[in-house]
Amino acid sequence: MHEVAVIPGDGIGPEITEAAQRVVEAAGVAIRWHEVQAGEAARATSGEALPGAALATIRRLRVALKAPLLAGRRTGGITVTNEGGPRRYPSINSALRRELGLFVNVRPVRGFATLSGAYAAMDVIIFREITEDIYIGEEREPEPGCAEAVKRITRAATERLARFACEYALGRGRRLITAVHKANVLHLTDGLFLETVRRVVEARPPLEFSEEAVDAACYRLVKEPQRFDVLACPNQYGDILSDLAAGLVGSLGLAPGANLGAEAAMFEPVHGAAPDIAGRGIANPVAMVLSAVLLLEHLGEGAAAARIRRAVEAVLARGRVLTPDLGGSATTDELTAALCAALQSV
Ligand code: NAI
Ligand code: MG
Repeated sequence: MHEVAVIPGDGIGPEITEAAQRVVEAAGVAIRWHEVQAGEAARATSGEALPGAALATIRRLRVALKAPLLAGRRTGGITVTNEGGPRRYPSINSALRRELGLFVNVRPVRGFATLSGAYAAMDVIIFREITEDIYIGEEREPEPGCAEAVKRITRAATERLARFACEYALGRGRRLITAVHKANVLHLTDGLFLETVRRVVEARPPLEFSEEAVDAACYRLVKEPQRFDVLACPNQYGDILSDLAAGLVGSLGLAPGANLGAEAAMFEPVHGAAPDIAGRGIANPVAMVLSAVLLLEHLGEGAAAARIRRAVEAVLARGRVLTPDLGGSATTDELTAALCAALQSV
């Protein structure tokens, strides 16, 4: 029996979490889920968006499935007071990732037959650095009408990301690692990122290195997605490129992710809490289900993970049970039921 922490999250979070748990159970994997409250649910009961108990449970179990959390301007930043705090973070997601020592966000984006049209063959893995860049939250307003933010890139964090991407790529038969940057304008910060990734990748044959300015990378991803294999990105470009890539294959509701570090692993979709459709039972559960697939692979349940992936591919290719974001009219519950049924025949 595996023991896994689960954060049901905000907005559509609880709906897609329940769906993913149902699919994992239908695949026959025994998991004891330890529910952890964070976000608005935790704020309502304990007054704290990220209670120390939530962090302690995830640290103890070392693996978590996480639904999206509201992190907009309305909720403001967050202060973690427990365990040697206070430490201030710009959002609850950055707080969770930093407090758990997670440093890389792996986001595989694959096209689906039929459903993804011209992007059916797209198959990229985005590696997003998640400890620094402009998201460190060091903003200030030196005078009214003027605001500044610090963008921090370090060689150490970039090397860690690049080495991780290399190992991951080699282990999966990938060949090409493209560094995404804007070094032509940000000579010091993105220049350091670019040259660090270049050095790490070039020392690891048979891996090949290439580079692309972030604007050109967006264009090429749309026009020639097959040119890309593995993308190594600083925090912000990785954030933006992963939503773009998800949109190209059909929906944000299709793209899963893994936040990894030395001490813990936390799996979550690329998308957010989708407050515009929350509570209506029409959220696409696939990104959360595929995040659970990445979690199962991490737990050594590769066979069950592969079966769930095949079930997702079969249901999406058939095209009969699709949620509204994919052009259909099915509910979350109906798509989840179709996935569970498909598991019996894949
Ligand atoms: P979002 O990703 O929540 O939504 C963008 C659009 O995609 C919306 O139209 C939404 O309905 C749609 N969408 C997203 N996931 C979907 C799904 N599974 N099925 C069907 N449609 C889906 O981004 P937005 O609106 O910018 O953010 C909403 C909230 O979520 C904000 O508070 C934001 O800070 C937070 N957020 C949290 C993340 C996390 O917890 N990792 C990541 C991104 C945003
Ligand atoms: Mg994002």
